[in-house]
Amino acid sequence: MTEALLKQFPQLRLIPQSNQVRFLHTRIRDATSSREDYVFFADRLIRLIVEEGLNCIPVADLEVNTPTQVPYNGVKSVHGICGVSIMRAGESMEQALRETCRGVRIGKILIQRDETTADKAPDTRFSYSKVPLDIHERIVFLMDPMLATGGSAAKAAEILIDKYKVKEENIIFLNVVSCPEGLTNFSSRFPKILVVTSAIDDGLNEHKYILPGLGDFGDRYFGTT
Ligand code: PRP
Ligand code: URA
Repeated sequence: MTEALLKQFPQLRLIPQSNQVRFLHTRIRDATSSREDYVFFADRLIRLIVEEGLNCIPVADLEVNTPTQVPYNGVKSVHGICGVSIMRAGESMEQALRETCRGVRIGKILIQRDETTADKAPDTRFSYSKVPLDIHERIVFLMDPMLATGGSAAKAAEILIDKYKVKEENIIFLNVVSCPEGLTNFSSRFPKILVVTSAIDDGLNEHKYILPGLGDFGDRYFGTT
């Protein structure tokens, strides 16, 4: 299934499934992990996802002089970037972006999925957004750890494109756990958005929770279970 999805959606990037990545997933998926462990290991995993996202932004050549007098042929980024987190769980990804991109601007979009309707027609409620004024000129890292039905991420992308005039091809969606339903829904609708994820799980249960998944990311990260 994973291979088929990667083939169907060339804009989908699954980070290398190294032993470290599998270990970090094991710790955050384990229902007996303490909240302290959950946050620690989720933060480590998110850092890898953010680094992979940064790998995807365009660069231009830049030669620098080294202390040995031999030049080094390096690169520099060509666009400004910013982050936008889908509240609340997406806020867990802000720290890694701040640690890797000094002074980065971060916007927020508040979208809640209605879990009472999730087993029928999955519904999402949008209630707030605030983003950098020049967001339409930047590469935007849209952040949400869970992609279940894809409804929340799709609503956020729609707001970025329609309301804030961000170009679809300038959005990179950073995600921890996805599934075929969410990926198909999101990537068919936004074929130019690059999706960077660390896992493609099996599917959804009747309440639209990812299986095997990890339960409710936001509740476990912020201690509201
Ligand atoms: C979770 C998650 C995503 C959404 C994914 O948020 O963080 O935003 O569900 O589900 P979907 O792909 O079916 O839309 P939730 O609305 O539960 O809020 P939270 O961040 O406060 O946990
Ligand atoms: N949101 C979560 O936090 N977990 C899921 O499995 C689905 C949506």
